[in-house]
Amino acid sequence: MEKIIIEGSHRLVGEVTISGAKNSALSILTAAILADSKCTIKNLPNIRDVAYLKDLLLQMGAKVESNKDTMTIDGSCISKHKIDNDLAKKMRASYYFLGALLGKFKTAEIPFPGGCDIGVRPIDLHIKGLEALGAKIKISHGMIKAKATELVGTEIYLDFSSVGATINIMLAACMAKGVTTIENAAKEPYIVDTANFLNAMGAKIKGAGTDVIKIKGVTALHGCEHTIIPDQMEAGTFMAAAAATQGDVLIKNVIPTHLEAISAKLREMGVEITEGEDTLHIRNRVRTKAVNIKTLPYPGFPTDMQQPMSVLLALSDGTAIITESIFESRFKYLDELKRMGAKIKVEGRVAVIEGVKRLSGAPVYATDLRAGAAMVVAGLVAEGKTEISNIEHIDRGYENLEEKLKNLGAKIHRISVAEE
Ligand code: EPZ
Repeated sequence: MEKIIIEGSHRLVGEVTISGAKNSALSILTAAILADSKCTIKNLPNIRDVAYLKDLLLQMGAKVESNKDTMTIDGSCISKHKIDNDLAKKMRASYYFLGALLGKFKTAEIPFPGGCDIGVRPIDLHIKGLEALGAKIKISHGMIKAKATELVGTEIYLDFSSVGATINIMLAACMAKGVTTIENAAKEPYIVDTANFLNAMGAKIKGAGTDVIKIKGVTALHGCEHTIIPDQMEAGTFMAAAAATQGDVLIKNVIPTHLEAISAKLREMGVEITEGEDTLHIRNRVRTKAVNIKTLPYPGFPTDMQQPMSVLLALSDGTAIITESIFESRFKYLDELKRMGAKIKVEGRVAVIEGVKRLSGAPVYATDLRAGAAMVVAGLVAEGKTEISNIEHIDRGYENLEEKLKNLGAKIHRISVAEE
């Protein structure tokens, strides 16, 4: 087992370059199996979830080669339309194979994805959309079995603008007969990135990034080359860390419009943010002002950023309220923050945070990926030493996090400890 050790109270100063977006990589690497020839995908982040997905593709018989941040995938030789339980369990986003396998082979069998520490995370909207296209779906013994003689385009209204359901339906609809319209679709940047990738393969998708997406089915898709967009959440995490440590950090390789909601909140708190074409310069020399945050689907404030931002709010001047409107239990990590001296009260989907002057380092653990990021930000600003365990969560979504922070002046390292 490994732990991250941080000696806190060091300002972050310097430059950091953001890696490719995890949540784009997962949907795009899966979508690549729809092509009849090789796809080349660049700017992939070197993270565990991408490694798990590569293993799943290899297990299904796809030809996969990777070299640094580039992967080539040839799905034309896939022989297996079922994915392995153990691997799929490690990564929720394996549910994208439902839409992709159904779209290409009209059959798919995947393990029912587990919930996690942020909520039940059902996939009823995914299933509703795929059944509307004509799939027959059975759930038994923890497996989802989907079959279709053919998929026919139709109108699908999403009760909630679910990212996963929007992408899964898009993957299946690409090769359905006729036109599919997804209403109340999610608009996150990785929906647009995935649609751009599919269109480069010859799909006919219009409206990605708006709440109505139209997909005109085609009979075949071909290989292409695509570069993954920068990771909005990694960039947001560095923005929160730079502000919390009262640092001065130039964040490179970002798309500023994807970070509007985070920049707006930080500016409201008194943080100075200068926007470049593909950079954000974060400067902060003050104790920030408390503000309220309500998480919403894009372009609202992202739920994945409420956790890193809560550290900044825990140290702000005044009382802040975080309303988590996307997931039903995404505040478990706040118990860890309270161990470090934060003053927080949680009532259901609302957390009331009374700002304190300082946090003190403590042994804490990561309850999920973004909670782990919050523990790192807390360790960077706390007085003394913080020890973070369960860091495999962090490795799922952040590439070389310690290295990047060390280059900004953080005193952070990783240790291996014998299994207790
Ligand atoms: C994606 O999860 C991201 N994961 C999450 O990022 C992110 O937090 C989330 O979108 C919201 O932006 C990936 O892209 C791999 P949803 P997803 O479907 O698709 C409910 C991270 O840290 N819902 O938009 O699972 C659901 O319970 C991860 O990178 C249904 O009720 O999110 C939740 O309350 C964490 N039925 C809400 O919608 C469904 O069929 C949002 O879920 C589907 C979802």
